[in-house]
Amino acid sequence: TTPLHSAARAAGKLYFGSATDNPELTDQPYVAILSQSSMFGQITPGNSMKWDATEPERGVFTFAAGDVIADLAASNGQLLRGHNCVWYNQLPSWVSSGGFDNATLTEIVATHCGTVVGHYAGQTYSWDIINEPFNDDGTWRSDVFYNTMGESFVPVALNAARAADPKTKLYINDYNIEGTGAKSTAMVNLVKSLKAQGVPIDGIGIQCHLIVGEVPSTLKENFEQFTALGVEIAITELDIRMTLPSTTALLAQQQADYETVISTCTEVEGCIGVTVWDYTDKYSWIPSTFPGQGAACPWDANLVTKPAYDGIVQGFESC
Ligand code: G3I
Repeated sequence: TTPLHSAARAAGKLYFGSATDNPELTDQPYVAILSQSSMFGQITPGNSMKWDATEPERGVFTFAAGDVIADLAASNGQLLRGHNCVWYNQLPSWVSSGGFDNATLTEIVATHCGTVVGHYAGQTYSWDIINEPFNDDGTWRSDVFYNTMGESFVPVALNAARAADPKTKLYINDYNIEGTGAKSTAMVNLVKSLKAQGVPIDGIGIQCHLIVGEVPSTLKENFEQFTALGVEIAITELDIRMTLPSTTALLAQQQADYETVISTCTEVEGCIGVTVWDYTDKYSWIPSTFPGQGAACPWDANLVTKPAYDGIVQGFESC
């Protein structure tokens, strides 16, 4: 069978990749598959570059766990996506509890993004600088950043990141922006406004946490409205979950759904790569967050490929 990164390259894409996480790296059979550079040309740390992991106390930076992932990418010859600088979730309590005024939080955000992106300067292809800024209705998420700084947290973070590593591609990453709709429109308007102000922005990350049988019908139209803004796009956290138990019919539908998503990326020139949010059901985040659901990844919990794998290959071969 065709390895997935090779299939992506043959389709003119930059990479096919996977998220991974530090605790999984003691699992030798798992690491052996992850490290096949023809299978995965890119990796993303699932947790270890987030704010709680990298700046647990103000001004105290810890990069040991993130460095393990960066070193793994380097030794495997894989691209690295940094994930993430500014997100409402997985914040250390000194940030999430708030109490800072606008000027102080501005300094904190700039220092955090500048230091973390600077630490990995030259090692990443791209970074999710802003993660999940919007509610599903397209309004701004009410979090410590927006509530203290208004929309300015976005340019503050992006400018600090660009100064710290002029080459890494700066992304805003979100979920439920796969098809057209209020949240995708909010993303379009934000990117337009950043570009009009001369704020650096290179890409939109489309997470793609999808449900079997429910892939939006407006994927291509939406991907094209994003790339028309003059930014690249990437599928950053793909998985397609189902209500358990998995059946032959559900696995076949999942294969078709993976093919739809991948072929849409294949067809849209500015869609540069695809990352699954870990490649195996063994380490998927889905069952703990959505009880009764799972089987979302292209490999099963025994590290055996599922029909979804063939759907991915077919999606890259669709053009
Ligand atoms: O670090 C603690 C550990 O000390 C403790 O013993 C353990 C007990 O549960 O929890 C550990 O924290 C967990 C953390 O992952 C690190 O393993 C959290 O409970 C758990 O909630 C957290 O889940 C992560 C989740 O983000 C948090 O929102 C998932 O692994 C990670 O895959 C997931 O990734 C996000 C992306 O960053 C953004 N998009 C959505 C995606 C899925 O939620």
